[in-house]
Amino acid sequence: MTSYVVSAFGLRVKLRPTAVALAKAVSRTVIVLALSAGGVRADDPVSSSVHYTGEIVRILDRRCASCHGDDTIAMPLSTYRQVRDWGRAIREEIVEQRMPPWSAARGHARFRNELALTAREATTILSWLDGGMPRGDDGNLPAAAKPAAEEPADLRLALPPQRVPALADHIVRRVTVTTNLTTTRRVARAVIRPGHRRVLRAAFVFAGGGDRPAQWIGAWLPWQPVASPPAPNAFDLAAGAPLTIELHYRGDDREVEDSPAVDLYFADDSRLMPGPQDPAYSRRAVREVAVSSGSAERLTTPATVWAIVPSADATAESIELTARLPDGSVHVLLWIPRYRPDWPHALALQDPMAFPAGTTMTLTAEPRTASATARLSLQRAAAAPNATRSRTRTPAPPRR
Ligand code: HEC
Repeated sequence: MTSYVVSAFGLRVKLRPTAVALAKAVSRTVIVLALSAGGVRADDPVSSSVHYTGEIVRILDRRCASCHGDDTIAMPLSTYRQVRDWGRAIREEIVEQRMPPWSAARGHARFRNELALTAREATTILSWLDGGMPRGDDGNLPAAAKPAAEEPADLRLALPPQRVPALADHIVRRVTVTTNLTTTRRVARAVIRPGHRRVLRAAFVFAGGGDRPAQWIGAWLPWQPVASPPAPNAFDLAAGAPLTIELHYRGDDREVEDSPAVDLYFADDSRLMPGPQDPAYSRRAVREVAVSSGSAERLTTPATVWAIVPSADATAESIELTARLPDGSVHVLLWIPRYRPDWPHALALQDPMAFPAGTTMTLTAEPRTASATARLSLQRAAAAPNATRSRTRTPAPPRR
């Protein structure tokens, strides 16, 4: 017996009888997938054409391997056998949209580090699982990717070792380090080098100390090791300013000691720049506006958002960031329908968004008693055209 979930557009999603009960519970999710599936007909008989060694291994490489590799935070899904053995769980995680753990809903700002499966990718994996998980020809397997060479940092700051107890679910550590810089420097990127990838879920770097450090300047996520503003923008780091590093851990089977480091890469013109009083200097300094739930922030100058770093307490179920322009139009920049405090993100926009002075930013958390914050990182200068970008300082393009 075959059952169908009929979507509003009449697309039918074919389901195996064993999956019907599950599908009923999540038919809304399936319909959303079907609606946005574009040219993909979910009921096409693809079981003969989708193979592990063809499309499947490539989707898993793009969307899963950064966490489900051989020495990463979750169980490996790097061989046909491993994937096949996890087949049933993979189906459930995808249908329930728990994996990959990306939480920003589509249809608002687009992010260059987006991790969610496209509707096409989800349909392809589900059809393959339902079609008996055929392996295909090993000759089609992609060549192993060469790890990119790591450029030496201008300043490396070792962090104190962190003990991560076995099987801990989610631990957050905040560590403050001093840079010992004697002058203000312009930081093109702040990059976290994890010690143990088996325990680190996410890490964030902030300029400043205390409970609420002044500015977010960098992040590491398993699938996005660098988050830096488009060149020639850079962060000003004042002499003597401390850095706060927020580390999110998940315990391994055994207790582990993690010794991460932070690498700072200065902008090429870091030394040549005059003092901050010179307008040419501040024109390139990345600024930040922090919006808290329950209070709106009005932009007093035009601003271009290149990244959004949301955070909320564990009671938050959803958060939404909206911009109301002076002409009265309202834009939803970010909607996180199911907030997951154990998977924090730093969201870098695909295309930075410019807002005029007088724009009001509002953050809404549900339930209203939850407290949430979104740090909006604002660039000043337009991104440099490729030709004039520094050869050595341009970060590798993000994996898509
Ligand atoms: C950012 C890291 C990350 C990415 C990317 C990711 N996973 Fe996971 N996954 C995890 C972690 C960590 C767990 C362990 C459970 C937990 O802590 O949520 C997990 C658990 C799972 C499980 C086991 C659930 C169970 O029944 O115990 C499956 C299946 C799974 N992931 C599939 C996938 C697939 C398929 C993809 C890609 C489409 C993917 N994951 C991408 C981190 C990730």
